[in-house]
Amino acid sequence: MDRVRLGIIGLGIMGNLYVKIFSAHPLAEVVAVCALEPSRVDEIRSLYGIRDGYVDYRKMLERADLDAIVVATPDRHHFEPARDALESGRHVLVEKPFTTSVKEADELIRISRRVGKMIQVSFNHRWLSSYHQAKETIQSGQIGVPLAGAARKNDTIYVATEYLSWAGETTSAWFLSSHDIDLMRWWLDSEPVEARAWGRKEVLAARGIPTYDVIQAQVKFASGAFATFESAWVYPNTFPSIVDSFMEVIGTAGHLHMDRKCESIEISTNERFSYPKGFLTAEIFGRVRGAFPSCLEDFLYALREGTTPRVTGIDGRQVTAALEAIHRSLETGNTEKVAALPE
Ligand SMILES: NC(=O)c1ccc[n+]([C@@H]2O[C@H](COP(=O)([O-])OP(=O)(O)OC[C@H]3O[C@@H](n4cnc5c(N)ncnc54)[C@H](O)[C@@H]3O)[C@@H](O)[C@H]2O)c1
Repeated sequence: MDRVRLGIIGLGIMGNLYVKIFSAHPLAEVVAVCALEPSRVDEIRSLYGIRDGYVDYRKMLERADLDAIVVATPDRHHFEPARDALESGRHVLVEKPFTTSVKEADELIRISRRVGKMIQVSFNHRWLSSYHQAKETIQSGQIGVPLAGAARKNDTIYVATEYLSWAGETTSAWFLSSHDIDLMRWWLDSEPVEARAWGRKEVLAARGIPTYDVIQAQVKFASGAFATFESAWVYPNTFPSIVDSFMEVIGTAGHLHMDRKCESIEISTNERFSYPKGFLTAEIFGRVRGAFPSCLEDFLYALREGTTPRVTGIDGRQVTAALEAIHRSLETGNTEKVAALPE
Protein backbone atom coordinates (compact mmCIF):
# COMPACT_ATOMS: atom_id res chain seq x y z
CA MET A 1 0.00 0.00 0.00
CA ASP A 2 1.63 3.20 -1.21
CA ARG A 3 -0.69 5.76 0.26
CA VAL A 4 -3.72 4.94 2.39
CA ARG A 5 -6.83 6.12 0.53
CA LEU A 6 -9.29 7.48 3.06
CA GLY A 7 -12.97 8.38 3.22
CA ILE A 8 -14.02 10.55 6.13
CA ILE A 9 -17.54 10.42 7.62
CA GLY A 10 -18.46 13.43 9.77
CA LEU A 11 -17.02 16.87 9.02
CA GLY A 12 -17.57 18.73 12.26
CA ILE A 13 -14.89 19.91 14.65
CA MET A 14 -13.06 16.58 14.62
CA GLY A 15 -13.82 15.60 11.02
CA ASN A 16 -12.29 18.86 9.81
CA LEU A 17 -9.11 18.02 11.75
CA TYR A 18 -8.94 14.51 10.27
CA VAL A 19 -9.19 15.92 6.75
CA LYS A 20 -6.62 18.61 7.52
CA ILE A 21 -4.09 16.23 9.08
CA PHE A 22 -4.49 13.32 6.63
CA SER A 23 -4.54 15.48 3.51
CA ALA A 24 -1.17 16.96 4.55
CA HIS A 25 0.36 13.54 5.31
CA PRO A 26 2.62 11.90 2.67
CA LEU A 27 1.30 8.41 3.50
CA ALA A 28 -2.38 9.34 3.15
CA GLU A 29 -4.79 10.58 0.53
CA VAL A 30 -8.25 11.84 1.44
CA VAL A 31 -10.29 10.65 -1.52
CA ALA A 32 -13.81 11.48 -0.34
CA VAL A 33 -15.63 13.15 2.53
CA CYS A 34 -19.18 12.91 3.87
CA ALA A 35 -21.46 14.88 6.19
CA LEU A 36 -25.17 15.46 6.52
CA GLU A 37 -24.97 19.15 5.55
CA PRO A 38 -24.23 19.66 1.78
CA SER A 39 -22.81 23.14 2.46
CA ARG A 40 -20.30 21.69 4.92
CA VAL A 41 -19.27 19.00 2.42
CA ASP A 42 -18.62 21.70 -0.20
CA GLU A 43 -16.75 23.88 2.28
CA ILE A 44 -14.38 21.06 3.34
CA ARG A 45 -13.83 19.89 -0.24
CA SER A 46 -12.82 23.33 -1.42
CA LEU A 47 -10.74 24.04 1.71
CA TYR A 48 -8.56 20.94 1.28
CA GLY A 49 -9.00 20.20 -2.45
CA ILE A 50 -10.84 16.90 -1.91
CA ARG A 51 -12.15 15.30 -5.11
CA ASP A 52 -15.55 13.98 -4.04
CA GLY A 53 -18.14 14.67 -1.38
CA TYR A 54 -21.28 12.87 -0.18
CA VAL A 55 -24.24 13.41 2.12
CA ASP A 56 -24.96 9.66 2.29
CA TYR A 57 -22.01 7.63 3.51
CA ARG A 58 -23.46 4.46 1.95
CA LYS A 59 -22.94 6.00 -1.50
CA MET A 60 -19.36 6.82 -0.56
CA LEU A 61 -18.76 3.21 0.49
CA GLU A 62 -19.77 2.03 -3.01
CA ARG A 63 -16.51 3.48 -4.39
CA ALA A 64 -13.77 1.02 -5.17
CA ASP A 65 -10.86 3.32 -4.32
CA LEU A 66 -11.05 3.47 -0.50
CA ASP A 67 -8.77 1.54 1.89
CA ALA A 68 -9.98 2.94 5.19
CA ILE A 69 -12.82 4.96 6.68
CA VAL A 70 -12.77 7.49 9.50
CA VAL A 71 -15.93 7.74 11.61
CA ALA A 72 -16.16 11.16 13.28
CA THR A 73 -19.89 11.43 13.84
CA PRO A 74 -21.52 12.31 17.20
CA ASP A 75 -21.11 9.84 20.10
CA ARG A 76 -24.33 7.87 19.51
CA HIS A 77 -23.79 7.57 15.74
CA HIS A 78 -20.53 5.65 15.39
CA PHE A 79 -21.98 2.16 15.07
CA GLU A 80 -23.80 2.18 11.73
CA PRO A 81 -21.11 3.90 9.64
CA ALA A 82 -18.40 1.75 11.30
CA ARG A 83 -20.40 -1.46 10.69
CA ASP A 84 -21.12 -0.59 7.05
CA ALA A 85 -17.51 0.47 6.44
CA LEU A 86 -16.19 -2.85 7.82
CA GLU A 87 -18.79 -4.83 5.87
CA SER A 88 -17.62 -3.04 2.70
CA GLY A 89 -14.12 -4.36 3.39
CA ARG A 90 -12.49 -1.21 4.77
CA HIS A 91 -10.31 -0.67 7.83
CA VAL A 92 -11.89 1.73 10.30
CA LEU A 93 -10.61 4.53 12.52
CA VAL A 94 -13.40 5.45 14.96
CA GLU A 95 -13.64 8.45 17.26
CA LYS A 96 -14.15 7.87 20.97
CA PRO A 97 -16.29 6.49 22.52
CA PHE A 98 -16.02 3.43 20.26
CA THR A 99 -19.77 2.76 20.60
CA THR A 100 -22.38 3.61 23.21
CA SER A 101 -23.40 -0.01 23.82
CA VAL A 102 -21.51 -3.24 24.43
CA LYS A 103 -23.78 -5.06 21.98
CA GLU A 104 -22.70 -2.70 19.19
CA ALA A 105 -19.02 -2.94 20.18
CA ASP A 106 -19.10 -6.74 20.18
CA GLU A 107 -20.77 -6.76 16.78
CA LEU A 108 -18.11 -4.47 15.28
CA ILE A 109 -15.35 -6.68 16.65
CA ARG A 110 -17.05 -9.79 15.24
CA ILE A 111 -17.38 -8.18 11.81
CA SER A 112 -13.77 -6.94 11.78
CA ARG A 113 -12.55 -10.50 12.51
CA ARG A 114 -14.81 -11.99 9.85
CA VAL A 115 -13.76 -9.55 7.12
CA GLY A 116 -10.13 -9.36 8.26
CA LYS A 117 -10.06 -5.55 8.58
CA MET A 118 -8.70 -3.59 11.52
CA ILE A 119 -10.29 -1.15 13.95
CA GLN A 120 -8.42 1.62 15.73
CA VAL A 121 -10.22 3.78 18.28
CA SER A 122 -9.05 7.40 18.50
CA PHE A 123 -8.18 7.49 22.19
CA ASN A 124 -5.60 10.09 21.25
CA HIS A 125 -4.60 10.86 24.87
CA ARG A 126 -2.43 7.73 24.84
CA TRP A 127 -0.08 9.70 22.57
CA LEU A 128 0.38 12.54 25.11
CA SER A 129 3.97 12.27 26.33
CA SER A 130 3.19 12.59 30.05
CA TYR A 131 0.55 9.86 29.87
CA HIS A 132 2.90 7.66 27.89
CA GLN A 133 5.58 8.23 30.52
CA ALA A 134 3.02 7.26 33.17
CA LYS A 135 2.47 3.95 31.39
CA GLU A 136 6.21 3.23 31.28
CA THR A 137 6.71 4.28 34.90
CA ILE A 138 3.95 1.97 36.14
CA GLN A 139 4.93 -0.89 33.84
CA SER A 140 8.54 -0.83 35.04
CA GLY A 141 7.35 -1.09 38.66
CA GLN A 142 8.67 2.29 39.77
CA ILE A 143 5.59 3.11 41.87
CA GLY A 144 5.09 -0.45 43.04
CA VAL A 145 1.71 -2.10 42.55
CA PRO A 146 -1.06 0.35 41.57
CA LEU A 147 -3.67 0.54 44.34
CA ALA A 148 -6.03 3.27 43.23
CA GLY A 149 -6.51 6.10 40.76
CA ALA A 150 -8.53 9.21 40.18
CA ALA A 151 -9.42 11.26 37.12
CA ARG A 152 -11.15 14.58 36.68
CA LYS A 153 -12.05 15.89 33.26
CA ASN A 154 -14.30 18.94 33.58
CA ASP A 155 -15.27 21.30 30.76
CA THR A 156 -16.59 24.80 30.77
CA ILE A 157 -20.31 25.10 30.05
CA TYR A 158 -19.39 26.41 26.59
CA VAL A 159 -18.77 22.80 25.49
CA ALA A 160 -22.22 21.51 26.46
CA THR A 161 -24.11 24.61 25.29
CA GLU A 162 -22.23 25.94 22.23
CA TYR A 163 -19.37 23.70 21.05
CA LEU A 164 -21.58 20.57 20.75
CA SER A 165 -25.05 20.68 19.20
CA TRP A 166 -25.77 17.18 20.58
CA ALA A 167 -24.74 17.35 24.28
CA GLY A 168 -28.31 16.36 25.22
CA GLU A 169 -27.86 13.06 23.36
CA THR A 170 -24.75 12.04 25.30
CA THR A 171 -23.31 12.53 28.78
CA SER A 172 -20.17 14.08 30.22
CA ALA A 173 -19.00 10.55 31.04
CA TRP A 174 -19.32 9.26 27.46
CA PHE A 175 -17.75 12.44 26.09
CA LEU A 176 -15.01 13.07 28.69
CA SER A 177 -14.43 10.11 31.04
CA SER A 178 -14.14 7.74 28.08
CA HIS A 179 -10.58 9.05 27.62
CA ASP A 180 -9.75 8.64 31.32
CA ILE A 181 -11.19 5.14 31.61
CA ASP A 182 -9.12 4.11 28.61
CA LEU A 183 -5.98 5.58 30.19
CA MET A 184 -6.61 4.07 33.62
CA ARG A 185 -7.29 0.62 32.18
CA TRP A 186 -4.08 0.92 30.13
CA TRP A 187 -2.02 2.07 33.10
CA LEU A 188 -3.45 -0.44 35.59
CA ASP A 189 -3.21 -3.22 33.00
CA SER A 190 -6.44 -4.58 34.40
CA GLU A 191 -10.06 -4.85 33.28
CA PRO A 192 -12.94 -2.92 34.87
CA VAL A 193 -15.33 -5.29 36.68
CA GLU A 194 -17.93 -3.18 38.49
CA ALA A 195 -19.12 0.42 38.74
CA ARG A 196 -21.16 2.67 41.03
CA ALA A 197 -22.03 6.18 39.85
CA TRP A 198 -23.82 9.33 40.93
CA GLY A 199 -24.95 12.25 38.76
CA ARG A 200 -26.83 15.56 38.97
CA LYS A 201 -29.10 17.19 36.39
CA GLU A 202 -29.70 20.83 37.36
CA VAL A 203 -27.94 23.50 35.32
CA LEU A 204 -28.10 22.05 31.80
CA ALA A 205 -31.61 20.63 32.25
CA ALA A 206 -32.79 24.14 33.19
CA ARG A 207 -31.30 25.33 29.89
CA GLY A 208 -33.19 22.69 27.90
CA ILE A 209 -30.27 20.24 27.54
CA PRO A 210 -31.43 16.97 29.11
CA THR A 211 -28.13 15.58 30.37
CA TYR A 212 -26.07 15.35 33.54
CA ASP A 213 -24.11 18.39 34.73
CA VAL A 214 -21.67 16.17 36.58
CA ILE A 215 -21.07 12.47 37.00
CA GLN A 216 -18.80 10.75 39.50
CA ALA A 217 -18.20 7.06 39.11
CA GLN A 218 -16.16 4.57 41.05
CA VAL A 219 -14.89 1.66 39.03
CA LYS A 220 -13.32 -1.48 40.45
CA PHE A 221 -10.73 -3.34 38.41
CA ALA A 222 -9.95 -7.07 38.36
CA SER A 223 -6.59 -6.42 40.05
CA GLY A 224 -8.37 -5.01 43.13
CA ALA A 225 -7.44 -1.42 42.23
CA PHE A 226 -10.26 1.11 42.05
CA ALA A 227 -10.56 4.54 40.46
CA THR A 228 -12.86 7.54 40.58
CA PHE A 229 -13.87 9.18 37.31
CA GLU A 230 -15.37 12.66 37.49
CA SER A 231 -16.72 14.47 34.46
CA ALA A 232 -18.58 17.76 34.50
CA TRP A 233 -19.37 20.40 31.91
CA VAL A 234 -20.83 23.27 33.87
CA TYR A 235 -17.71 25.23 34.88
CA PRO A 236 -18.30 28.94 34.20
CA ASN A 237 -16.75 30.20 30.99
CA THR A 238 -14.46 32.41 33.07
CA PHE A 239 -12.35 29.30 33.78
CA PRO A 240 -9.02 29.91 32.00
CA SER A 241 -9.02 26.61 30.09
CA ILE A 242 -11.74 24.79 28.13
CA VAL A 243 -10.95 21.66 30.15
CA ASP A 244 -9.70 21.10 33.68
CA SER A 245 -7.92 17.76 33.57
CA PHE A 246 -6.18 15.93 36.40
CA MET A 247 -5.19 12.28 36.79
CA GLU A 248 -3.48 10.33 39.55
CA VAL A 249 -2.36 6.81 40.32
CA ILE A 250 -1.32 5.71 43.81
CA GLY A 251 0.90 2.66 44.07
CA THR A 252 2.44 0.68 46.91
CA ALA A 253 5.74 2.52 46.39
CA GLY A 254 4.91 5.84 44.78
CA HIS A 255 2.40 7.96 42.96
CA LEU A 256 1.82 9.85 39.71
CA HIS A 257 0.04 13.18 39.31
CA MET A 258 -0.72 14.56 35.87
CA ASP A 259 -2.24 18.02 35.76
CA ARG A 260 -3.29 19.24 32.29
CA LYS A 261 -5.29 22.23 33.44
CA CYS A 262 -2.42 24.38 32.26
CA GLU A 263 -0.26 22.98 29.44
CA SER A 264 2.75 25.06 30.53
CA ILE A 265 1.62 28.40 29.08
CA GLU A 266 -0.51 31.07 30.70
CA ILE A 267 -1.51 34.26 28.95
CA SER A 268 -3.11 37.39 30.29
CA THR A 269 -4.41 40.18 28.05
CA ASN A 270 -6.70 43.12 28.80
CA GLU A 271 -9.63 40.88 27.83
CA ARG A 272 -8.92 37.62 29.63
CA PHE A 273 -6.61 35.26 31.44
CA SER A 274 -6.14 31.85 29.78
CA TYR A 275 -4.29 28.54 29.71
CA PRO A 276 -4.34 27.77 25.96
CA LYS A 277 -4.19 24.08 24.98
CA GLY A 278 -1.51 22.83 22.62
CA PHE A 279 -0.42 19.30 23.50
CA LEU A 280 -3.08 17.43 21.50
CA THR A 281 -3.02 19.67 18.44
CA ALA A 282 -1.07 22.79 17.65
CA GLU A 283 -0.37 24.45 14.32
CA ILE A 284 3.43 24.62 14.12
CA PHE A 285 5.19 25.87 10.96
CA GLY A 286 2.05 25.31 8.89
CA ARG A 287 1.31 21.76 10.02
CA VAL A 288 -0.87 20.28 12.76
CA ARG A 289 1.38 18.60 15.33
CA GLY A 290 0.83 16.90 18.65
CA ALA A 291 -0.67 13.78 20.17
CA PHE A 292 -3.71 13.73 17.90
CA PRO A 293 -1.81 13.73 14.58
CA SER A 294 0.54 11.11 16.04
CA CYS A 295 -2.47 8.90 16.78
CA LEU A 296 -3.60 9.30 13.15
CA GLU A 297 -0.11 8.62 11.81
CA ASP A 298 0.12 5.38 13.79
CA PHE A 299 -3.11 4.23 12.15
CA LEU A 300 -1.39 4.70 8.77
CA TYR A 301 1.70 2.79 9.97
CA ALA A 302 -0.45 -0.07 11.31
CA LEU A 303 -2.17 -0.36 7.90
CA ARG A 304 1.07 -0.21 5.91
CA GLU A 305 2.94 -2.63 8.15
CA GLY A 306 -0.01 -4.92 8.90
CA THR A 307 0.52 -4.54 12.66
CA THR A 308 -2.06 -4.36 15.44
CA PRO A 309 -3.23 -0.79 16.03
CA ARG A 310 -2.08 0.87 19.26
CA VAL A 311 -5.69 1.17 20.49
CA THR A 312 -7.88 -1.67 19.25
CA GLY A 313 -11.59 -2.36 19.05
CA ILE A 314 -11.19 -4.50 22.21
CA ASP A 315 -9.79 -1.46 24.07
CA GLY A 316 -12.74 0.60 22.85
CA ARG A 317 -15.17 -2.17 23.81
CA GLN A 318 -13.83 -2.40 27.37
CA VAL A 319 -14.24 1.37 27.88
CA THR A 320 -17.78 1.16 26.48
CA ALA A 321 -18.54 -1.74 28.86
CA ALA A 322 -17.37 0.31 31.87
CA LEU A 323 -19.41 3.30 30.72
CA GLU A 324 -22.48 1.18 30.11
CA ALA A 325 -22.23 -0.11 33.71
CA ILE A 326 -21.74 3.47 34.95
CA HIS A 327 -24.91 4.60 33.17
CA ARG A 328 -26.87 1.60 34.45
CA SER A 329 -25.75 2.49 37.96
CA LEU A 330 -26.89 6.10 37.47
CA GLU A 331 -30.37 4.73 36.78
CA THR A 332 -30.58 1.93 39.35
CA GLY A 333 -28.55 3.45 42.18
CA ASN A 334 -26.82 0.07 42.54
CA THR A 335 -23.35 -1.23 41.92
CA GLU A 336 -23.41 -2.70 38.41
CA LYS A 337 -21.26 -5.41 36.86
CA VAL A 338 -19.20 -4.54 33.79
CA ALA A 339 -20.03 -6.91 30.91
CA ALA A 340 -17.04 -9.24 30.48
CA LEU A 341 -15.48 -9.87 27.09
CA PRO A 342 -17.19 -12.74 25.26
CA GLU A 343 -15.15 -15.99 25.22
N1 LIG B 1 -10.63 12.76 20.70
C1 LIG B 1 -10.99 13.97 21.13
O1 LIG B 1 -10.23 14.63 21.79
C2 LIG B 1 -12.36 14.49 20.75
C3 LIG B 1 -12.69 15.83 20.92
C4 LIG B 1 -13.96 16.25 20.53
C5 LIG B 1 -14.87 15.33 20.00
N2 LIG B 1 -14.52 14.03 19.88
C6 LIG B 1 -15.46 13.01 19.36
O2 LIG B 1 -15.54 13.14 17.94
C7 LIG B 1 -16.86 12.80 17.49
C8 LIG B 1 -17.37 13.95 16.62
O3 LIG B 1 -17.45 15.11 17.41
P1 LIG B 1 -17.52 16.58 16.75
O4 LIG B 1 -17.31 17.52 17.87
O5 LIG B 1 -16.62 16.65 15.57
O6 LIG B 1 -19.06 16.62 16.26
P2 LIG B 1 -19.74 17.70 15.31
O7 LIG B 1 -21.15 17.84 15.77
O8 LIG B 1 -18.91 18.92 15.22
O9 LIG B 1 -19.74 16.99 13.87
C9 LIG B 1 -20.46 15.83 13.61
C10 LIG B 1 -20.44 15.58 12.11
O10 LIG B 1 -21.01 14.30 11.87
C11 LIG B 1 -21.85 14.39 10.71
N3 LIG B 1 -22.81 13.27 10.76
C12 LIG B 1 -23.67 12.91 11.74
N4 LIG B 1 -24.35 11.81 11.38
C13 LIG B 1 -23.90 11.46 10.15
C14 LIG B 1 -24.21 10.41 9.25
N5 LIG B 1 -25.12 9.48 9.53
N6 LIG B 1 -23.57 10.38 8.06
C15 LIG B 1 -22.64 11.30 7.75
N7 LIG B 1 -22.29 12.30 8.58
C16 LIG B 1 -22.92 12.39 9.76
C17 LIG B 1 -22.49 15.75 10.82
O11 LIG B 1 -23.00 16.14 9.56
C18 LIG B 1 -21.27 16.57 11.28
O12 LIG B 1 -20.52 16.97 10.15
C19 LIG B 1 -17.69 12.55 18.76
O13 LIG B 1 -17.83 11.18 18.99
C20 LIG B 1 -16.87 13.20 19.87
O14 LIG B 1 -17.01 12.61 21.15
C21 LIG B 1 -13.28 13.60 20.22
